[in-house]
Amino acid sequence: AVSRTLILVKPDGVRRGLSGEVLRRIEAKGYELVAVELKNADDALLAAHYAEHEGKPFYAPLVDFMKSGPVLAIVAQGQNVIPGFRSLAGTTDPTTAAPGTIRGDLGRDWGLKVQQNLVHGSDSDESAAREIALWFPTL
Ligand code: CMP
Repeated sequence: AVSRTLILVKPDGVRRGLSGEVLRRIEAKGYELVAVELKNADDALLAAHYAEHEGKPFYAPLVDFMKSGPVLAIVAQGQNVIPGFRSLAGTTDPTTAAPGTIRGDLGRDWGLKVQQNLVHGSDSDESAAREIALWFPTL
């Protein structure tokens, strides 16, 4: 069935001018854009979005990083879009993410406490439903 996923261009990606490049790769793959909005995330939104990471050593730096500038929030749609976008994004660590992926082509280690890895993509149907409701409550 056609599904939807929540994609974020994180503040590092927006700052580096890569929002268009990420949108281009989503569209070039053949997924449909359902919603796109530049947002300044607050603590409540990020606490809900990253609830599963609360208590981990990178949690506070992660929330600070995600508040360091605007985030481009995207809902994309298509057959198998959830694993499909995660494949486009590449693995979490940009140093070793495969070339050809967003993180592998465009990301690197900047020596910071949090991995600045350009994008987020929902990891399951349940996460996608939860995250879309958080970032786009009117959808
Ligand atoms: P993402 O998978 O979108 O959501 C959790 C984020 O936390 C992840 O991207 C990285 O930005 C960051 N992260 C995950 N693991 C680590 C880690 N071991 N050290 C620093 N940052 C991390």
